Amino acid sequence: MTEHLTKHLPGNLTGKIAIVTGGLSGIGAAVVARMAAQGAIVIAADLSSDLRTLGEGTISPFHVDVADPASVKSLFDAVLARHGRVDCVVNSAGIGKDIPFLDTSIEIFDKIIAINLRGTFIVGQQAARAMVQTGGGAIVNIASVSGMTGNVGRSAYGASKGGVVILSKVMAVDLAAHHIRVNVIAPGPVDTPLVAQMHPPAIRQRWTDRTPLGRYATPDEIAGAIVFLCSPDASYITGHVMAVDGGFLGSGLPV
Ligand SMILES: NC(=O)c1ccc[n+]([C@@H]2O[C@H](COP(=O)([O-])OP(=O)(O)OC[C@H]3O[C@@H](n4cnc5c(N)ncnc54)[C@H](O)[C@@H]3O)[C@@H](O)[C@H]2O)c1
Repeated sequence: MTEHLTKHLPGNLTGKIAIVTGGLSGIGAAVVARMAAQGAIVIAADLSSDLRTLGEGTISPFHVDVADPASVKSLFDAVLARHGRVDCVVNSAGIGKDIPFLDTSIEIFDKIIAINLRGTFIVGQQAARAMVQTGGGAIVNIASVSGMTGNVGRSAYGASKGGVVILSKVMAVDLAAHHIRVNVIAPGPVDTPLVAQMHPPAIRQRWTDRTPLGRYATPDEIAGAIVFLCSPDASYITGHVMAVDGGFLGSGLPV
């Protein structure tokens, strides 16, 4: 009885080692804060950090470029040397840009795919190789509602996120025998620095009108679902795509 109750208390991630890419901003930063509050040791791996060594505290910033296999390998080498294992990996690093299809250059298409899709593959493979050695783990990849439906101006971004969805499903199947769960969160509009840059007021109004709950999410509302999928409470969930979108994908005409 006590054991059952303990599993559901806030210390659900006590002793777990977690890596969150994109962990210094927006959704990733909210995940880092929640995981640390639940007892995990968290590495906030981000392009915007200058730090390449792990600190002693519960949260360590670490410099990584998810599009660069050597950089990702040095991240995992450092974490495994310090902690000997990785239990949870969240792929939140990402970039976005709204560009009409006819104006999308090959260079910007390649860049968005390199970070959002190829980066998720590179980090996921390093994560899985580490988790195989220690008997399992959980990976959560961040896609988007724009990877599940054709939003305007999002050929590169939407293709990268649609790719993340199917990549994650294949990973879930291939890695199940190793007790590694792989799931996807598909956020709707979330108030983060990325969206501040992508959504001018007119676009923001359209997203708000089109979302049944009538507002943007906070990063913490997305982080709650991500941390749940990492936790033992989700032990039978894998290969799942969970929209956290205020009803966006479930709706038709604006309410
Ligand atoms: N904000 C939204 O409305 C929304 C909606 C759907 C999906 N998403 C996805 O959620 C994820 C997080 O987005 P956010 O809104 O928190 O954005 P954000 O810009 O606030 O944070 C993204 C972080 O990723 C880091 N990053 C970028 N390129 C990187 C690289 N090559 N290597 C390592 N780190 C890198 C950035 O430095 C930044 O800290 C992204 O994958 C994004 O596509 C966001």
